[in-house]
Amino acid sequence: MIRCLILHGPNLNLLGTREPEVYGKTTFDDLNRRLKEFARDLGMEIRIIQSNSEGQLIDAIHDAMTWADGIVINPGAYTHYSYAIRDALAAVRLPAIEVHVSNVHAREEWRRHSVVAPVCVGQIIGLGPRGYRIALEAIKEIVEESHR
Ligand code: DQA
Repeated sequence: MIRCLILHGPNLNLLGTREPEVYGKTTFDDLNRRLKEFARDLGMEIRIIQSNSEGQLIDAIHDAMTWADGIVINPGAYTHYSYAIRDALAAVRLPAIEVHVSNVHAREEWRRHSVVAPVCVGQIIGLGPRGYRIALEAIKEIVEESHR
């Protein structure tokens, strides 16, 4: 069974109430519930972790090395400046996909740059919560292809 870490960064616990005009009305709990159902249908095991602190996100990435085949990560604002998260993703060498709920390219200039993008296999941006499902399916296919 393919196993994937879903990692949510700072402020994503507030999905549903946080700037709904930007991030939508799906709550964090609804998103995770749907993701678990989707993973079950795909025959995947997922573990979902959210943290508002950089160190805990890094620890979760390191720990993924011991059990996961891939990572779906929305690093929140850390996307734009956390070289430490970037280095953690590079260190564990698991295929990672970067997800953003909002279209960061249609917002402030500083959101257009991601320091984690170069160590991810790809990005899914601006598709709302469905971006996580697309990323999960992509991780499954990428891991399966690597086993062939
Ligand atoms: C975000 C985009 C980031 O710029 C922002 O800081 C977030 C959420 C997104 O999912 O659209 O916290 O990662």
